Amino acid sequence: MTTARMLRSDEPTARLPRPRYSYGALLATSQRVCWQLEDVIGGRSLDFTRPFMPESLARTADVEGLSADERLALNQIRGHGYLCTFGIVEEFIVPFVLDHVRPRLGEGDECVRALLQLAGEEAKHIHLFRIFADMFRAGFTTPCDVIGPAEEIGRAVLSHHPLSVALAILQIEWMTQRHYVDAVHDDDGVDPLFRRLLKHHWLEEAQHAKLDTLMVEALAAACYDDERERALDGYLDIGAFLDGGIAQQAEFDAVALERAIGRRLPDAQRKAMIDRQRQAMRWTYLGSGMTHPEFLGTVERCLGPAARARLEAVAPMFS
Ligand SMILES: [Fe+2]
Ligand SMILES: [Fe+2]
Repeated sequence: MTTARMLRSDEPTARLPRPRYSYGALLATSQRVCWQLEDVIGGRSLDFTRPFMPESLARTADVEGLSADERLALNQIRGHGYLCTFGIVEEFIVPFVLDHVRPRLGEGDECVRALLQLAGEEAKHIHLFRIFADMFRAGFTTPCDVIGPAEEIGRAVLSHHPLSVALAILQIEWMTQRHYVDAVHDDDGVDPLFRRLLKHHWLEEAQHAKLDTLMVEALAAACYDDERERALDGYLDIGAFLDGGIAQQAEFDAVALERAIGRRLPDAQRKAMIDRQRQAMRWTYLGSGMTHPEFLGTVERCLGPAARARLEAVAPMFS
């Protein structure tokens, strides 16, 4: 981005959308709702007699050819995948936000503190997800593979234009809101500790989603028109890359289930289960954010109505 600027004599078109949120108000809310790891865990442990993932995200309750116990094991494997997937995506959010805040150090105390608070909270979330993944491994007994390594995935994502990366992060932040509000709120069967994780994540991510909106707006305003036009391509490339990871994870989860239940599934049943689980993960990690009204609104304000229409055209693939 910097090199391209140095070669151009024109200035970015100032098309500043009116900021929808204030750094000061978001900082104050962040400080009020901020929690510690102990507030979430507090001596509790995972209950392996219960599902970990809400059914609207897991879609494991009606997988054909599995007993009730086997479906429960698949749901819990998906819970482990959720912990590890968030660990991975949050690892590229931290360096992105730190890179974003450095050139903005002169833009006011509230802006700098709010963005650094966000980065600190993401580092804490990574820690929380790791502790939960350790608790899972201690109780589940058979190994479950996950995609990675996180550094390599992060490098691939961060190689895109900052506006494309900021859009991907904004989508992730809004999807965490949906995961708790839409899915967990009404699902009484979910393990209480896993529900606490989703709730506490939701509490802090509510501010992140708004701060990310401000980041997207600031980056979009600093871009040339052609950079803005290409930003959605970059965002879709990141989505396609993550979708490839999801396909791999669905295969890993089938292997993990077979290990856990001690039998190989018949080929046709195995394939049907992997296809269904892949689609469930597409909704969990891509569709639930991509179709969030707040995300679509920001895309339309910052990139224009044609960009929003493109997104709405591809979203059904991830439903
Ligand atoms: Fe987070
Ligand atoms: Fe976040």
